[in-house]
Amino acid sequence: MRERPRRLRQSPTMRALVRETQIQADQLILPMFVRDIAAPSPINSMPGVVQHSLVSLANAAVEAQAAGIGGLMLFGVPDDKDACGTEALSVDGILARGISAVRAAVGPDFVIVADVCLDEFTDHGHCGVLDSQGRVDNDATNQLYGEMAVAVARAGANVVGLSGMMDGQVGVVRDALDHAGFHDVVILAYAAKYASAFYGPFRDAVQSSLTGDRKTYQQDPANRRESAREVRLDVEQGADIVMIKPALSYLDVVADTRATVDVPVAAYVVSGELAMIEAAAAAGAIDRQRAILEVLTSVKRAGADIICTYWAVEVAAWLKADK
Ligand code: PBG
Repeated sequence: MRERPRRLRQSPTMRALVRETQIQADQLILPMFVRDIAAPSPINSMPGVVQHSLVSLANAAVEAQAAGIGGLMLFGVPDDKDACGTEALSVDGILARGISAVRAAVGPDFVIVADVCLDEFTDHGHCGVLDSQGRVDNDATNQLYGEMAVAVARAGANVVGLSGMMDGQVGVVRDALDHAGFHDVVILAYAAKYASAFYGPFRDAVQSSLTGDRKTYQQDPANRRESAREVRLDVEQGADIVMIKPALSYLDVVADTRATVDVPVAAYVVSGELAMIEAAAAAGAIDRQRAILEVLTSVKRAGADIICTYWAVEVAAWLKADK
């Protein structure tokens, strides 16, 4: 026997020498929720995750920055919802105020991704506005995304996360940002976003009022080729970074995307993926830290450069302790 693969596994140092994939703290993005409340409020279906007040948000942002992670992704939880998601466009809205508070606390360069989508702000819970027959109106929605992107850029976001899955949204938002002078605001496009059961806890987190589903705009989990098309269209329209979401059930799509584009690829380990692992760990069925690191490593190994994860700060601390 000449080939003995086990030779390279004989000790921790040998294994470190040949390790192919490393998770890096500065390529992790922490999603956060902000609401007009006096004190942070736990989200029952997402252990360890809270809805922040403006004050606790800014403090947690500073801690996250100090932990060495790559950035934050902010979602607003408004008190008032209406058919058009008006609060999403307002400088006085909770998302814009959250972004401003964080920007003031973390300085000019730290990455703040603002979610640009209407679902948290609409009373019907859809990611866009509805036409007279109650269907999501793609092109009217894109105009609002353009306005929202400019509003969050004004508030201090240097990246916009386009999560609504409307056709043509990247091009419309790029034009709106450029027209307002925000040439340097980065577009992180949720290029392939599937209609997933794993968003369940997030809808608790943002107190979503959705009845029904998002299957006319988010993708069918059965489709792989369709993601290549979605990714191609987003890159053609000017996406700076493309994201796949969820992550774990879509590692094939992450790998396909990495192989075909020359922009950075991100993947979002979503709320239901967090909830599953936390539940299994709480039940004593798996080792929590090892499971989390294994999951994030698998997302990286599949080809993601950037990972959005609610565990970002905790993982950054583990990585530091490990060095
Ligand atoms: C929509 C949005 C969703 C998530 C991020 N942005 C929910 C949805 O599409 O229903 C889910 C994130 C998660 O589950 O962690 N703006």
